[in-house]
Order: sequence, then structure tokens, then C-alpha cells
Amino acid sequence: MLFKVFLAFLVAAAVGLDLNAIKRQKTTEPPPTTLAPISYTIVDPGPQAVKCDGACPTGWLYYSGSCYRKYSSSMTFSEAQNSCVGLGAKLASIQSQEENDVLRKAFDSNNVVTLKEQAWIGLKKQAGGWAWTDGSPVAFTEWAAEPTTKNCALFFVDSLTTYDYQRGLWKEFNCTQDAGSYICEKVAAA
Ligand SMILES: *[C@@H]1O[C@H](CO)[C@@H](O)[C@H](O)[C@H]1NC(C)=O
Repeated sequence: MLFKVFLAFLVAAAVGLDLNAIKRQKTTEPPPTTLAPISYTIVDPGPQAVKCDGACPTGWLYYSGSCYRKYSSSMTFSEAQNSCVGLGAKLASIQSQEENDVLRKAFDSNNVVTLKEQAWIGLKKQAGGWAWTDGSPVAFTEWAAEPTTKNCALFFVDSLTTYDYQRGLWKEFNCTQDAGSYICEKVAAA
């Protein structure tokens, strides 16, 4: 009898069975048949710019009577403005907190970028102060810090390398230097 047990042990060892692993397996609990409920909250994202065939050309997003598109191409303020004009548009002029939020959400690439990759908007300092290139009144501003010496404005649609909290805000930028992107706006088709 003892010899048989010993023999069985030898065989088991020879074929590489791990007897302890087999014992462990036997005592493993079966998986639970019911799962704990998952709780979640739906956050209303608020107004958004949307695709709208008919009102806006392909690639442009519709919001409140306008079509918007962000172009990623490095150029100065006036080059960007000319590019928008060539598309039957203008650099975007932002009239409210809501429009600002809508554009930030629409064009946020979720990338962390440098200051020079942010987007031109149509705000430019003139003799009489800051003015939108389309002549609309400056009813709303969202400066990260009050501008000092520069004459044009960038809109932070993406996270900045160092200042994520500034996303959605604006910063003065030298008009004659290149910025990496710009946002054009044009009137939507009725
Ligand atoms: C903008 O940059 C150019 C070239 O670097 C410089 O000559 C000019 O003085 C700058 N303008 C302002 C307003 O900072």
C-alpha cells in the first residue's frame, strides 16, 4: 500500500503535475452570479457645434447661425484672416461665454500643445482699442491675463504645455508671428 502511494507520487512528479495546484483549484470559489450595480452620472455637455449638411459645408460645424472650422496651418494673423476671407469667411469673432465654450469643445484636440500652436481669432488691437475684424462690438472677452504689448489674440482650444487651467481662455500674441492654427467663421445658409 505504502509502496503504491510512493509509486503514484513518483509518476505525478515524473509528468510534472503540481499536486498543490490541483488542490488549490478545487477550493476556488465559483464566480458570483450577480454583479454589483454600476452607478454613473450623465453630465449635460451644454450647447455644441454640430455637423449640419445644408447649413454648413462639409468639414464645418454649425452653431447659432454660423459655420466654424479650425485650420491647422502655421501663419501670421493677417495671413490667417486672408485665408478665411478666401473661403468666404472671416476669423471667428466670439460674442459670448456660450459661443466661447462651444468653440473650445468643438476644436479641442485633447492634445497638449505649445502657445504657438493655439488658434487665431479675429480680435486685433486698433487705434481705438481691441476690435473684431468683422466690426462687431467687443461685448465679451476671456483673457487669461490682461493683454499688455501685443496686438492680436490667440484662443486656447487645447491644453497648454504648462497651463492646462487656461484652456478656453485667450492670450495676446504678436500679430506678425506665426501661430499654428486659426478658426474661421461664416454665415450659415438659411
Ligand atoms: C512682433 O515681432 C516682431 C518680430 O519678432 C517684432 O519686430 C515686433 O516688435 C513685435 N511686435 C510686438 C507688438 O511685440
